[in-house]
Amino acid sequence: MKLTFLGHSCVLIEHGEHRLIIDPFLTGNPVATVSADEIEVDYVLVTHGHGDHLGDTVQIAKRNDATVIANFELATYLGWQGVKTHEMHIGGSFSFPFGKVKLTPALHGTGLVIPEKKEIVYLGMPTGLLITIDGKTIYHAGDTGLFSDMKLIGQRQPIDVAFLPIGDNYTMGPEDALLAAEWIGAKQVVPMHYSTWPPIEQDAYKYVQELGQRGIQGVVLKPGDNISL
Ligand code: NI
Ligand code: MN
Repeated sequence: MKLTFLGHSCVLIEHGEHRLIIDPFLTGNPVATVSADEIEVDYVLVTHGHGDHLGDTVQIAKRNDATVIANFELATYLGWQGVKTHEMHIGGSFSFPFGKVKLTPALHGTGLVIPEKKEIVYLGMPTGLLITIDGKTIYHAGDTGLFSDMKLIGQRQPIDVAFLPIGDNYTMGPEDALLAAEWIGAKQVVPMHYSTWPPIEQDAYKYVQELGQRGIQGVVLKPGDNISL
């Protein structure tokens, strides 16, 4: 299985005939190295409705006839835009042709901001994702603060790789993300959601070094870099 980091919180998962993308924020993403037009996937997984995660979901899903997996409210909203969806919610899991997805809690906000109307559309609770493909489990925490149930997530199933936000300001910062990594007990941790813009500037190499001091393997993936599981 190949996992490619596409910048911010966007991850492309390729395994056999299956291709999935998580939080495809590429258009307007200052660190993206690929354009939304280049993405070929069967599924789009979206952790929450903020623009830097929802991103190019509609365009990518429509062009690829891909199914969007998201919480009920967000899936409903996307369905109204003509996108194929599979709605789920926190604590629920479902077996798809590529593998199993379970939605986990995330401590964060949720609304889609429509500036011209000064409106915020409620799009359900934000989520994280546990994705199990061919016996390997990926935890993508979405946008979240530290919460102690991360211990439970790690206890319930071994996690092969965890993508954790470290940017601070909107999500966990590096200190809390170190504790999160300890609690989750993943074999490998990849930092995300940092240095896209000045308020979330962080030194990912320092974070990974500090993971190492705690006996946890961390890896910095620059946008476009990949790892194999
Ligand atoms: Ni967010
Ligand atoms: Mn975000």
